[in-house]
Amino acid sequence: MDKTRRSFIGKGVGMSMALGFPALVRGKNLNGKVQVAAVGVNGMGFSDFSNIASHEKVQHVALCDVDLDRFDKAAEKAPTAKKFQDFREMFAQMGDQIDAVSVSTPDHMHALVAIEAMKRGKHVYCQKPLAHTVWEARQMRLWAEKTGVVTQMGNQIHSALEYRLGTRLIQDGAIGKVIEVHSWISVSGNERTRLLAPPKSGPVPKNLAWDLWLGCAPEREFAPEAYHPFVWRDWQDFGGGGLGDFGCHVLDPVFTALKLKAPLSVVADNSGINEHVWPVNETVRWTFPGSDLTAGKTLNVTWTDGGLKPARKLAKMPPELDLPGGGSIFIGEKGNMVLAHVAAPRLYPADKFTGFSYPDVGKKPIHWHRWVDAILGGEKTTDGFDYAGWLAETVQLGNVATRMATRPADSRGGHNIDPAHGATLLGWDAANMKFPNHPEAEKLLTKIYRKGWEVPAA
Ligand SMILES: NC(=O)c1ccc[n+]([C@@H]2O[C@H](COP(=O)([O-])OP(=O)(O)OC[C@H]3O[C@@H](n4cnc5c(N)ncnc54)[C@H](O)[C@@H]3O)[C@@H](O)[C@H]2O)c1
Repeated sequence: MDKTRRSFIGKGVGMSMALGFPALVRGKNLNGKVQVAAVGVNGMGFSDFSNIASHEKVQHVALCDVDLDRFDKAAEKAPTAKKFQDFREMFAQMGDQIDAVSVSTPDHMHALVAIEAMKRGKHVYCQKPLAHTVWEARQMRLWAEKTGVVTQMGNQIHSALEYRLGTRLIQDGAIGKVIEVHSWISVSGNERTRLLAPPKSGPVPKNLAWDLWLGCAPEREFAPEAYHPFVWRDWQDFGGGGLGDFGCHVLDPVFTALKLKAPLSVVADNSGINEHVWPVNETVRWTFPGSDLTAGKTLNVTWTDGGLKPARKLAKMPPELDLPGGGSIFIGEKGNMVLAHVAAPRLYPADKFTGFSYPDVGKKPIHWHRWVDAILGGEKTTDGFDYAGWLAETVQLGNVATRMATRPADSRGGHNIDPAHGATLLGWDAANMKFPNHPEAEKLLTKIYRKGWEVPAA
């Protein structure tokens, strides 16, 4: 390894922090490529690996996956990268050679891997939903702030022209001040396994280090086709249901356009839930403080998933059109905007916007490359944890509210988010991370970590 480079990296962020420089100065001075480690290299991890590897200034030096059978595609493209099953071993052996880490594991391990990377001064690209709990989302933001590393959440559509145009239209006042927002996704929180409790265990495949896959989650036995790969999403111990899966995508342009941070309150109901799985569908409503972009002193953002959509008539679309499978309706004082997940924004009622001149939002940047460019001293990422942390907290707050709505998981019940009729409205004191009117719900802000796998507080 190049001696100058090694001595520079050896000083790393510790030096830049001590001198008060932002960490991205470090990237500018790298005399070679940004040396990246990928944690979770199949599924979305392969997309992250490939998109990061396609930057000419990147070299992958380490690949980590708990499943030996899932290395092949990435290993073929990065034959010199060293392979690991345990990310802790990877940091122990190669810490001084890694500049940046991409985290594409299941959700329950995001915060632990990302924070262990940030603690060591590594820049981090972390898949959505960034974290598994409200507390973890807060720690992600605080660790990024403390270490000054370059961060980006992996909700890549943040950089898509469709979303950039949608957020620009809201900020330019195309529909006037915003009265309310309705966001939805067709995906259900319990559609992969349709199980309601852990199934009978089965032998762990030789290629899989099950204990490492479990990581910080409570002990449970492996069962084929119940958790790994992909279907872990249905389980509260590993995923976040429909909202956890898509909230950081669909709500991202709502957050960017309206410059949202912490809500004032959240309330939810769902089709039925127990302590194991997420509901088939849910309705969540956050109330945010108003701003110069909103019509009222507060703004309601309502989320539905699992096949529930807002009333079509809210959008004022032409009769031949229907709402897309996912997206948001922004209802404004001068019109409405439907921003599909993912398609160009549409302004309604159509006759009001005939001949409307859409602004130019430039070329499509590559989300993954924006992170690498920022490491190399380029423009700051717009989806860093300083922004994404708030979005992730809000998504996880929705999941706390969902878990407070205790209809039995097999009831497929109706929805009631009206606090006047019994729904639990959680007032949110963001500064202190408290629900002053429902302290008993505060235990759901975090989770119990398996011994030895605790996420360090910032
Ligand atoms: N941005 C997007 O559009 C998008 C799309 C799909 C998934 N995702 C996100 O990507 C992440 C992965 O989802 P997926 O669908 O690819 O899941 P998956 O289960 O298919 O793949 C996860 C990969 O990580 C590996 N892995 C699991 N635990 C690990 C650990 N502790 N250390 C190292 N490797 C580990 C698995 O073996 C597997 O190869 C999730 O956070 C998910 O929310 C994002």
